[in-house]
Amino acid sequence: MSDHPAPAAPEPRTAAVIPAAGRGVRLGAGAPKALRALGGTPMLVHAVRAMARARAVSLVVVVAPPDGATGVRNLLDEHNLPDVLVVPGGPTRQESVRRGLAALPDDIATVLVHDAARPLVPVDTVDAVAAAVRDGAPAVVPALPVPDTVKQVGPAERPGDPEPVVGTPDRSLLRAVQTPQGFSRATLAEAHARFARTDGAAGDGATDDAGMVERLGVPVVLVPGHEEAFKVTRPLDLVLAEAVLARRRATDGF
Ligand code: CTP
Ligand code: MG
Repeated sequence: MSDHPAPAAPEPRTAAVIPAAGRGVRLGAGAPKALRALGGTPMLVHAVRAMARARAVSLVVVVAPPDGATGVRNLLDEHNLPDVLVVPGGPTRQESVRRGLAALPDDIATVLVHDAARPLVPVDTVDAVAAAVRDGAPAVVPALPVPDTVKQVGPAERPGDPEPVVGTPDRSLLRAVQTPQGFSRATLAEAHARFARTDGAAGDGATDDAGMVERLGVPVVLVPGHEEAFKVTRPLDLVLAEAVLARRRATDGF
């Protein structure tokens, strides 16, 4: 027993892991998707800035294309982002996230996982996710209502035949989820340790971190997503992203 109070434990910190190792097959020929330009700046740089601007985030880890870590390092240095850690990714998004988590220092207690392919997420959305985790939710996902009615299909009888519809889920109960998804680090690390890397999405691993946490039986909660947090997947999404940037420049000189 000492009369002196114990030194205050350091504040647990929040990190953002940005999987950016995908090729962007659906976007068409060109550089890896995260390195494609948006308003003259690589998508990845937009995504890193979106995370670094959030009050909660004190460390950003970028998971680079497996053969592109040096190039990404140089790119981030050129854009004045020298404090960002860069690690090489893997063949699936799940494996890339796992490698990003493995690079986190011990004092990180909250992790946001954010797709490089969602470069325009507003900072308020990032902060809302981080705040909900810090307030005690082990897993938090930004989500929006689904505008289209969604059909569930079964397998076609023969290749090339039309797909049969087997059901129409009630749209009012569906949500489209975005990133950043926020987690207590221990929860996400356990999910990644538990589930085989080839489970889910037809052997390509999980495309959604929260889905892995759900399988642990841990509750996942939603916060409002934002339409500007959409994922750049197909060529038309680049047109939309350029338009969003142009609107921002016009309205706030961004
Ligand atoms: N991702 C990753 N490692 C992989 C695959 C994907 O880090 N092996 C990342 C992508 O870089 C992207 C995010 O996961 O930021 C979401 O994936 P997606 O939108 O599917 O991007 P890509 O896999 O690059 O695109 P596509 O599926 O069209 O090839
Ligand atoms: Mg993909």
